[in-house]
Amino acid sequence: MSPLSRSITRKTTNGPFLDKPVSREHQHLLMEAASRAPSHFNSQPWRFVLIEDKAKRERIAELGGSSMERLIAEGKFFERYRPYFRFSEQEMQERRDGILIDQLPGPLRPFTRQITSPGALGLLRALGVPKVLGEDNRKLIAGSPLLLAALLDKTEYRPGELSGFYSILGLGMAIENIWLTTVELGMGIQFVSTPMEIPEAWEEIKRILEVPDELELMAVYRLGYVPPEKPRPRIDWRSDHRKRISQYVFRDSCRTPERDD
Ligand SMILES: Cc1cc2nc3c(=O)[nH]c(=O)nc-3n(C[C@H](O)[C@H](O)[C@H](O)COP(=O)(O)O)c2cc1C
Repeated sequence: MSPLSRSITRKTTNGPFLDKPVSREHQHLLMEAASRAPSHFNSQPWRFVLIEDKAKRERIAELGGSSMERLIAEGKFFERYRPYFRFSEQEMQERRDGILIDQLPGPLRPFTRQITSPGALGLLRALGVPKVLGEDNRKLIAGSPLLLAALLDKTEYRPGELSGFYSILGLGMAIENIWLTTVELGMGIQFVSTPMEIPEAWEEIKRILEVPDELELMAVYRLGYVPPEKPRPRIDWRSDHRKRISQYVFRDSCRTPERDD
């Protein structure tokens, strides 16, 4: 196995999962992998909720769908994330970051370049794009056999203090361990982050999961087994490009970019 193969095979799954429950054994393996992450003083500040209950998954899916629809319709999504949208391979080759929108329904294709511009909001609404994206997102979440909530213990997670930063670092590494383990288990994982951008939606997820005052809800994911052939959503993207070493690594000081091979 090449030293890079583990990190290269890790990726985000944008499409649907198999309609098959994730075995308890696999769920526990993912949690065990999370717990192996480093944390300051081995404090293990992370907590997780494994969500299999159908009614809860559907309620979270509704929130995922409606928050996606709202973020697009109100223009906040493109306003915040416009710098990361790429519409051609050539554009991607220059910066090698962001996401390449490479799947759009026929009626939208002539407007490819305009879709993230502030003036295009009316057009997007007229073409029903917010609804399509919201509904696709709802279906993807509702059809995922397992949702996972990641939380932090507030005795360690104190925003603004170093222990708050350390806790976030530790949780990030725990999540990466889960992510890498999904690959080994034939599973996929995707962030469900749109509800996080709408405070009421995030509060509602906290209520659904009965998050107590001592814990902070940090992130939600959808997981499942990846189907052999991977049907793509109607509007889709890929983000397997990475910057060249010279674009993000320096040698000895921040003045000298590392040379590319
Ligand atoms: C904080 C954070 C939030 C993210 N939110 C989303 C999200 O809402 N939906 C999604 O599909 N991916 C989300 N991602 C995943 C990134 O889009 C993805 O990791 C990046 O495009 C690289 O693609 P890859 O994971 O396939 O390598 C998020 C990642 C991070 C770290």
